Amino acid sequence: MKQVVYITRKLPEEAVRPLREKFTVRMWDKEDVVVPEEVLKEEVKSAHALWTTITDQITREIMESAPNLKIVSNCAVGFNNIDLQAAKELGITVTHTPNVLTETTADLAIGLLLASARRITEAEAVLRDGRWKSWTPMQLTGMDVFGATLGIIGMGRIGEAAAKRARGFEMDILYHNRTRKMDTEEMYGFQYAELDDLLRQSDFVLILAPLTDETRDLIKKRELRLMKKTAVLVNVSRGGIVNEQDLYDALTEGEIWGAGLDVFETEPVPVNHPLLTLPNVTALPHIASASIQTRLAMMKLNERAIRDVLGGRVPNNIVV
Ligand code: GLV
Repeated sequence: MKQVVYITRKLPEEAVRPLREKFTVRMWDKEDVVVPEEVLKEEVKSAHALWTTITDQITREIMESAPNLKIVSNCAVGFNNIDLQAAKELGITVTHTPNVLTETTADLAIGLLLASARRITEAEAVLRDGRWKSWTPMQLTGMDVFGATLGIIGMGRIGEAAAKRARGFEMDILYHNRTRKMDTEEMYGFQYAELDDLLRQSDFVLILAPLTDETRDLIKKRELRLMKKTAVLVNVSRGGIVNEQDLYDALTEGEIWGAGLDVFETEPVPVNHPLLTLPNVTALPHIASASIQTRLAMMKLNERAIRDVLGGRVPNNIVV
């Protein structure tokens, strides 16, 4: 009997094909609909491997109903959708897809920062909606990026890659991280700052930290009040790190100037979400790693990890 791989989302055939020869591959057949929990619960009963996305909540209950499960391979660098403690206790390997998405995600982070600062999506909407009446001295004026101070919260691989790009704009880089990165401080002149100092001094605050118990709600009313009234907050990590109600209040009360959000507390974010009603929010549907090359590279890592674990080998990119 072949081992069973269950894939929770319809993926491109070229990504899945290498698994088909050796394993029985079953796949949720929709690309834009999350697998319903009942279907997932049924499918995991016979699965030896689960290939998941960030939209799947892989709970203890799911894993406990999967007696054969050896690996959960998540198509993301983040893994807050998986109960790691339960996986560990049940002897299930969890893998993710770091490195291959670093540069692509950093590109988007800087793109969103620029778009928010210079009101790019808002300006395009003005043009397309026929609201462009004339060149106007102060219409759609934004904030300068060149030479500004960028504070990065979460200086991992993606944070560093974003900081290097920002150097091209001659930005001064502050960062806050669990551990100091003395080598990059020395090599590139990035400066470590306590969180409050970073918030006070930065023109742009870019969040690239993982969502953990420590970072949940890290940026709330108090932290937003510390920021400059001209500052822009950009979040490309997880929605839960920023308190959305407090962010809404800060944006409407002029505590900060704008925000760029690729992530939300609940995704997909409903179109009537208060933050989406604000002109000073530039919003994207969680696309930071979405280049063709990178998404296929992420899937390659998932596919290899599954083949390794089901073949009795130790995979790369183990989380637990
Ligand atoms: C996407 O959000 C990821 O964690 O890769």
